[in-house]
Amino acid sequence: MAAARRLLVRDLVQLVSPAGTAAPLRGAELGRVDQLDDAYLLIDDGRVSAVGAMRNLSALDGEVEELDGRGLCAIPGLVDCHTHPAFAGDRVDEFALRAGGASYEELHAAGGGILSTVRATRAAGAEGIQRAVERHRGWMLRHGTTTWEGKSGYGLDRQTELASLRAIGAAGGVPTWLGAHAIPPEFGDGGAYLDFVLAEVLSEAAELAEAADVFLEQGAFDAAQARRYLEACRGAGLELRLHGDQFTEAGAIPLAIELGARSVDHLEATGDDGIRRLAASDVTGVLLPASALFLGRGMPPARALVDADAAVALATDFNPGSAFCESLPLVCALAATQLGLSPAEALASCTVNAAHVLARAHDVGRLSPGYAADVVLLDAPDWRYLAYHLGGDIVHTVIVRGVPTGLR
Ligand code: NIG
Ligand code: FE
Repeated sequence: MAAARRLLVRDLVQLVSPAGTAAPLRGAELGRVDQLDDAYLLIDDGRVSAVGAMRNLSALDGEVEELDGRGLCAIPGLVDCHTHPAFAGDRVDEFALRAGGASYEELHAAGGGILSTVRATRAAGAEGIQRAVERHRGWMLRHGTTTWEGKSGYGLDRQTELASLRAIGAAGGVPTWLGAHAIPPEFGDGGAYLDFVLAEVLSEAAELAEAADVFLEQGAFDAAQARRYLEACRGAGLELRLHGDQFTEAGAIPLAIELGARSVDHLEATGDDGIRRLAASDVTGVLLPASALFLGRGMPPARALVDADAAVALATDFNPGSAFCESLPLVCALAATQLGLSPAEALASCTVNAAHVLARAHDVGRLSPGYAADVVLLDAPDWRYLAYHLGGDIVHTVIVRGVPTGLR
């Protein structure tokens, strides 16, 4: 066992954490933060043991490692609750075609899009997938992400789906089985493909993953197929997530509520009725503004959702096709500039509320005694630079379970 370790981060300009202890935060509570100025953070054995103002810091016993926080602001380690890191290759050619006017759906219908990444990922094999996931995990960490969910979904065969889930778990991610992401070319229709995955992949995927996810959309899986997949996954003990209302409203929100899903993600096409229903439910709406931006689509109705008291989270949707972006600070900037959320609402949405989606809000997402010592030190005179410094180089140091990973 590692030796006991005590770390004091001292002389921080600010230390900020979403207020209270509840999760998820909704409505006005989403925008409340606890802020300490001229602050310290004390970590014992990988957990936060105290936070406070420097003037109240008393003498500490024993061996204490110190980290100079001058010029820095501390926020909780960021939580990315929606990523697709298990892919090989890239879609830069497709990106260039889209820049010239081709649409994402056209490329998908022509056998490109998700299916082109499926070909590359199958060809990479288990070791190639593991290397890719670890590389992507490193990118996320450098942007302050200390807890992350990762989906499979670029295998769509037994071997590659299971290798993807194993790679995500081995790299420290929270694995989600996106077994219903697209219909691979060897199956004529969604029903035949679901016959296969539910019979041949589900039982082993359920051992490796915490949740299951489905892409409910025209050209992918319809509501009846999504229900069939999700009910089978729930029966195997998995939590449920849905990609829904990305391009069209096809029944994702009512299905998510009926099945008791943890989240419904995207929501760019959600209308007033969906907002009202989601707000009255326990399902969290996961907003992915980098994806809407990358595809040149309208943004999800974030402000209306928060004002209606819906639980919302923010995530990157990191993937090679619709959101080649691993930066939650950039997502916070988009939340403030495009979604009408305050910096405080953005912070809570990618810390405590994202942790809630992953059933970890008791452990991560806040900087207060008892929580895991996952911390981002921002190179900024005010923590709100998290959202203000658009695309800025603001992550100075990331502390993971009490261990600083010096980035500079
Ligand atoms: O969340 N919408 C479906 N899946 C991903 C995109 C995957 C891809 O284009 O490779 C998403 O946007
Ligand atoms: Fe996604």
